[in-house]
Amino acid sequence: MPDPSGDLLPLARLAADAAAEFLLTQRPVSLTVATKSSPTDVVTQMDRAAESLIRQIISEQRPDDSIWGEEAGEGTGASEVRWIVDPLDGTVNYLYGLPLWSVSIAAEVRGAVAVGVVSAPALSLRYEAVRGHGATCVDRTTMISRPMRVSSIADLSQALIATGFGYRSEQREQQARIVATLLPQVRDIRRLGSAALDLCLVADGRVDAYYESGLHAWDVAAGALIATEAGAIVRGGTTDPATDALTLASAPGIAASLSAVVVAAGEGGA
Ligand code: IPD
Ligand code: CA
Repeated sequence: MPDPSGDLLPLARLAADAAAEFLLTQRPVSLTVATKSSPTDVVTQMDRAAESLIRQIISEQRPDDSIWGEEAGEGTGASEVRWIVDPLDGTVNYLYGLPLWSVSIAAEVRGAVAVGVVSAPALSLRYEAVRGHGATCVDRTTMISRPMRVSSIADLSQALIATGFGYRSEQREQQARIVATLLPQVRDIRRLGSAALDLCLVADGRVDAYYESGLHAWDVAAGALIATEAGAIVRGGTTDPATDALTLASAPGIAASLSAVVVAAGEGGA
């Protein structure tokens, strides 16, 4: 069967950049905020509108594919391709006017993620990967692109580690205990607020590793491929709906030592 991955990348880019541009330029002064899994887990009209736009763009070109989006759920499709979409990853940052948010679009072919695009328009960056072909960072202003590679760090005590926290307070209690264990053992910790972007920053060597438990497929599908293609060791970055699993993406030199600390501290079980 022919591999359609090369054809999917331009469409993933088109949809991600259209939604990114829409979110950046059409943000109303006041956002309508509804809550989801907890009072701090929010969704705005812009999350929903961006997902509709992405669905429309993908369906116009590939009407037989299925699309699984954070806001509108999963549809059915007759083809072997499924799109996994987070229309706005980092909604809380977007709400507060902070620039660390992204649009994340992955295309799975026969159950394996083949293409991933993460567009971060407030940073003027787009990250992308096709399985087996490496990962690229594109400056959206100059359109200059460059290959990405994870950091060459080998010593956990010198590592800059990104993490994130879920929206349920009992989950956060455990996540806080893990951070308390890890923080004295590393250079520092970052909590940036967009899982998709965190994974791309590992790919680009801007942080040495990222871990979080309780993520969903739409948070990780594109970013995990991008990190893997840039040389990261990625654990649990699958599209399984096992939401409490640990996702850990790391430069190879600290993957084992970081994983040992995080797992021993119980991060996988929240
Ligand atoms: C969230 C962000 C955040 C992570 C949360 C995610 P959302 O996604 O990726 O960084 O810590 O676990 O739910 O809600 O902004 O789409
Ligand atoms: Ca998300």
